[in-house]
Amino acid sequence: MEYTWKALLLFTFLFNKGIANDCVPYLVEDVLVACVCNATYCDGIPANRPEVPKIGRSHWYQSNKDGLRLKWSEVDFNQNAQVFSADVTLAINDEMKYQKIFGFGGAFSDVSGYQISKLSPATQEQLLRTYYHPRTGSKYTLGRIPIGSSDFSLRRYTYDDTPNDTKLKYFALSSEDMLYKIPYARKAYLINRGTRFFSAAWTAPEWMKSDDNGLSFLKPEYYQTYTDYLMKFLDSYAKHDIKMWALSTGNEPSDAFIFRNSNITMGWTPKTMSNWIVNNLGPTLTSKHRHTHIMAFDDDRSTLFKFTKSLLMNENSGRYIAGVGVHWYKDNITRATVLDEMHNDFPEKFILMTEASIGPPVWGTPNIISESWSRGEKYFLSILEYMNNWSIGWVDWNLALDQTGGPNLVNIHLDAAIIVNPERDEFYKQPMYYAIKHFSRFIPRNSRRISITDSNTVKATAFLTPSRETVVVLYNSANTPQRVVLKDFRRGNIQVELSPQSMNTFKYK
Ligand SMILES: *[C@@H]1O[C@H](CO)[C@@H](O)[C@H](O)[C@H]1NC(C)=O
Ligand SMILES: *[C@@H]1O[C@H](CO)[C@@H](O)[C@H](O)[C@H]1NC(C)=O
Ligand SMILES: *[C@@H]1O[C@H](CO)[C@@H](O)[C@H](O)[C@H]1NC(C)=O
Ligand SMILES: *[C@@H]1O[C@H](CO)[C@@H](O)[C@H](O)[C@H]1NC(C)=O
Ligand SMILES: *[C@@H]1O[C@H](CO)[C@@H](O)[C@H](O)[C@H]1NC(C)=O
Repeated sequence: MEYTWKALLLFTFLFNKGIANDCVPYLVEDVLVACVCNATYCDGIPANRPEVPKIGRSHWYQSNKDGLRLKWSEVDFNQNAQVFSADVTLAINDEMKYQKIFGFGGAFSDVSGYQISKLSPATQEQLLRTYYHPRTGSKYTLGRIPIGSSDFSLRRYTYDDTPNDTKLKYFALSSEDMLYKIPYARKAYLINRGTRFFSAAWTAPEWMKSDDNGLSFLKPEYYQTYTDYLMKFLDSYAKHDIKMWALSTGNEPSDAFIFRNSNITMGWTPKTMSNWIVNNLGPTLTSKHRHTHIMAFDDDRSTLFKFTKSLLMNENSGRYIAGVGVHWYKDNITRATVLDEMHNDFPEKFILMTEASIGPPVWGTPNIISESWSRGEKYFLSILEYMNNWSIGWVDWNLALDQTGGPNLVNIHLDAAIIVNPERDEFYKQPMYYAIKHFSRFIPRNSRRISITDSNTVKATAFLTPSRETVVVLYNSANTPQRVVLKDFRRGNIQVELSPQSMNTFKYK
């Protein structure tokens, strides 16, 4: 009896709000802040839905502030041309082509794995599938793996904390690798074999570094020892069937100067990094792991150009570097044009957004109501901007955290796209999750970005997939509905009314 009553309430709610009926809503004061998943249930795209509709129609996936989550519908080309007065007209031109997309993903940090490990095996599986499954999930194809501890670890460690162990006799992976990183990264790979991993160390072992009041650098006499240390990491992960597509030169070298926290940071200057790459990392990686690329920088774009220009201009170091990793933390003070400049000067080097996150945690606080959608919107608009400025992908930070947003070694707790609740053996997918999925699920690897016009209220990006479908991703940032005409000179026009503050993905052949 009671069950029926609740089901009826839920149904009424879903009906009134127009929520896609596969999201189990988590409501705070009647506002949908997340969709609930557990061991037996998680919302997703039905495996039997065709990837694209018949010629002449488009799929349309919609999420919005009002509670839609990837609501699916179809829309026909060339309907009612006369009666539609458009607010915005966007023109697609697939003859103008830009970068090839490599993928989207998140990070297998120690703390993400630690939180995931508290769920039952079936719920863990559900969580990894909702990110990595190529049909029902987000189709993630990237995973970032910290080398040793990051700030999102339970303790500070490297793989060789035995002082002066210059032969690396005591090198060993940690229990964190065995318990929290390798099992989940492997599972992600088995769910989607297109998954590629890349890794970054926050620091070398303390004994390899000079330390001036917390500001630490790798000692030149240990340049090769540290390189060998990184090779041992690659060897050890390969033994566990995890091969690295790329190795970062180190997470956020600029943090060393700002935070002076030597255990989890290590400074580089363009000059020292260039010497290290030319004399040690480049040649050693080429001979020992020639399929692993060097990804330089891995830091905020505010210093991207200054730092990498000399690295890449120097032919000796430049030839070893495949591309650069960029973090989003100072994007609000650095225009995306730095990415354009970077691409124009070094068109053969890839640009990949490798870390984004938002703090402080708001799950379980009243702020969740105002923050949950706006954080999703921030993610969505960032992805769109990076896509429009040559990035080959976009990678979230912690795959999952609990409602405390930690633990964190320096007490910087954060929010995450998925919040786990071990007591109830369930997890909550916030708007940030859907923001990424609007891109990752529909833009497969090797899609090419193509040209689409933009407007102030409706932000746009477009792609051509390897099987020649067109994918258009739009955000209506207005508080009012916007009537949009999408003009594709091959197919004709699509006319749609985008709901206020809505994420939209169109896909057609
Ligand atoms: C899992 O979620 C589904 C859908 O909300 C629900 O019907 C089921 O009872 C949940 N299972 C558990 C063990 O809570
Ligand atoms: C490590 O080597 C340095 C330099 O040779 C020396 O000063 C230091 O005492 C050594 N530390 C240990 C723990 O052996
Ligand atoms: C971390 O740094 C502190 C001081 O900076 C040092 O005492 C400690 O041994 C370091 N821990 C590790 C694991 O290197
Ligand atoms: C940029 O963002 C940071 C962190 O989110 C914030 O502290 C800072 O005030 C912002 N700066 C501007 C110019 O908006
Ligand atoms: C870079 O992104 C901004 C914001 O989305 C956009 O206005 C600009 O046109 C983009 N640059 C290129 C080359 O598309």
